Amino acid sequence: MTMASSSFPGRGDFSLRPGSPELFAPAATEESAPWESWRSKRALQQPSYPDSEALDSVLAELRRQPPLVFAGEVDDLRTNLAAASRGEAFVLTGGDCAETFSEATADHLRLKIQTLLQMAVVLTYGASLPVIKIGRIAGQYAKPRSSDMETRGDVTLPSYRGDAVNSFEFTPESRIPDPTRLLDLYHHAASTLNLIRAFTRGGYADLRLVHHWNRGFTANPAYARYESLAEEIHRAVKFLEAAGVSSAAQMRSVDLFSSHEALLLDYESAMTRIDSRTGDPYNTSGHFLWIGERTRGVDDAHVELLAHVRNPIGVKLGPTTSIDDMRRLVDRLNPEGEEGRLTFITRMGADKIRHALPPLLEAQARDGRPVTWVTDPMHGNTITSSTGYKTRRFETIMDEVTGFFEAHREAGTVPGGIHVELTGDDVTEVLGGSEQLDEEALRDRYETLVDPRLNHQQSLEMAFQVAEYLKKE
Ligand code: PEP
Ligand code: CO
Repeated sequence: MTMASSSFPGRGDFSLRPGSPELFAPAATEESAPWESWRSKRALQQPSYPDSEALDSVLAELRRQPPLVFAGEVDDLRTNLAAASRGEAFVLTGGDCAETFSEATADHLRLKIQTLLQMAVVLTYGASLPVIKIGRIAGQYAKPRSSDMETRGDVTLPSYRGDAVNSFEFTPESRIPDPTRLLDLYHHAASTLNLIRAFTRGGYADLRLVHHWNRGFTANPAYARYESLAEEIHRAVKFLEAAGVSSAAQMRSVDLFSSHEALLLDYESAMTRIDSRTGDPYNTSGHFLWIGERTRGVDDAHVELLAHVRNPIGVKLGPTTSIDDMRRLVDRLNPEGEEGRLTFITRMGADKIRHALPPLLEAQARDGRPVTWVTDPMHGNTITSSTGYKTRRFETIMDEVTGFFEAHREAGTVPGGIHVELTGDDVTEVLGGSEQLDEEALRDRYETLVDPRLNHQQSLEMAFQVAEYLKKE
């Protein structure tokens, strides 16, 4: 075995690259790794840990842990995202705003995975394209916050920053950032990925089973308007079975990739490893990592860290993004214009997307370096209900999705996919949809700790509506 780079101390074999005898080299020490250059940059939205020695020992422990994802899988996803940038595949990203440790259970995860697989079947039919399935899952445990402090009554405490940082409970002890939570994050991500691999390889993702679940959805009179599309899909599945395709392994297993916001720089850099086959650094905490709207400063630490890794990466773009901001991000994150490397996830707001997005699309098309364009129709459309809940309206979310397709049609560019916050549970967090969830209903099952999520039914309804739209395109 050859080691592609020799400047890293303490090499040893510990992580297989599937399909190849090549191995990841161990994590580099802090001083030697080039991607640690982020430490000299401005790092926004980082927890302030009271005990820096405790943090250092956690990071040393993390550097000893095996990678969670493998370079070969990450490369496959980059290739798939390249196809999406050309209009030859469609991206579906979905999952919680913030995963929690207490909901990393088999039941919650199963329902979430089931929801994503059901949506993917509908979208595959609607788009007549392969659907790239990505979860906001197995690592989405840290949140940027608009305020460092939260006040309730006359008590002010540090904000909840996700289970990877502190606890939601509103007491002084719970809100102190605790670095040992980074190890809990690692272990929850590992067990979640293990379950994903089992579900997606072990028969649970079988097209016929997923299709059977979708039949259950359209049997509900509230969703009768989707019956004819469901019937078309049914005939297509029957055809595949009759033609003998259904016995093929492709019917039984799928790829479901993991993604999260690469927010906590200490964790993300401790999980970065050199692929010994190529000598390139990979962030092994997830297949796809994105930079949030609040931390995408081109000279800041998050961009610096992700500029160093080979993973496909995303950057959220809000409505105030200028053409110059965008060009500088491309210069820094994808200077050579490699297809599949960079995804822009736009989150403009339904009322802004139709005028804010086309100029960016046109400028990028003129630039010529490829980008995969994905819509996040959630984060520009958050409102507060009269009953005091942070919520969103299903119809407004769908309006942003429609605006996204219209903007691409106007600019002559490729709408590559959708990125949504959802759960497989029957929560009541987002208003509207065919079941007309109203402000009173928000009280029933409002469970999210951060942003409101589409419930199982609303997620499927979105998939049917997007599929109808794609079919007409
Ligand atoms: C998120 O995706 O949960 C998020 C915080 O998004 P944004 O960075 O776009 O606000
Ligand atoms: Co969110």
